[in-house]
Amino acid sequence: MPDDGLPFSPACLRNQDPILALLRRWLAPNARVLEVGSGSGQHAIHMARHLMGVRWQPSDRQESLAGLAGRIALEGQDGLAPGAQVAPPLVLEVSQPHWPTGPFEAVFTANTLHIMPAAAVPHLLAGSARVLASGGLLLVYGPFRYGDRHTAPSNGAFDAHLRSLDPAMGVRDAEALLAEAAGLGLHLLADEPMPANNRLLVLRKGNEGRGG
Ligand SMILES: C[S@@+](CC[C@H](N)C(=O)[O-])C[C@H]1O[C@@H](n2cnc3c(N)ncnc32)[C@H](O)[C@@H]1O
Repeated sequence: MPDDGLPFSPACLRNQDPILALLRRWLAPNARVLEVGSGSGQHAIHMARHLMGVRWQPSDRQESLAGLAGRIALEGQDGLAPGAQVAPPLVLEVSQPHWPTGPFEAVFTANTLHIMPAAAVPHLLAGSARVLASGGLLLVYGPFRYGDRHTAPSNGAFDAHLRSLDPAMGVRDAEALLAEAAGLGLHLLADEPMPANNRLLVLRKGNEGRGG
């Protein structure tokens, strides 16, 4: 763990390479990426160090911005992949109307859906649908339930823990999420298994979903 006094997530360190491997597959060259709920900023830095030409826009709620901005100021210029950029972070609370205009080729978010209130999740989907270019991708990393079943007992325990802290938090149901997303023109392209019982859902803005 670095001793720079900035927020640091051990989970990010563990999941950043598996996520990178899939972003390499899914992101178009030189993609403009809006990250929602960037937290410590580790994903922003890691992806921009490895994805040539990527233009990464981190964001988070006001209360998380100082730490995030500190990380980007400290590390956001050094060792980036050729042509890659990390922009100064934006304040973005998904339920508020002030989303960046875009267009973005991708919206990426990791481990945010179970933290934000359930009522905020449709705003995340609607905002993403607004700012994505046609054919752009929404990539959502984290734990999910399917048909109200957890994919592992540890995810069930995590869900119960979150709900005990705040009933508005909790592991989201992938099928309900995908139904809501489809109504906004975001269709499932892939549901990738990830380490530690997480998933990466890949949705595309447009008509052609998986098998389409
Ligand atoms: C568990 S952290 C994950 C941070 C980072 N993406 C990661 O993978 O380590 C959850 C993040 O979601 C953000 N978040 C929660 N509710 C949000 C909302 N309504 N709008 C935008 N971001 C939100 C928090 O500020 C926090 O940075």
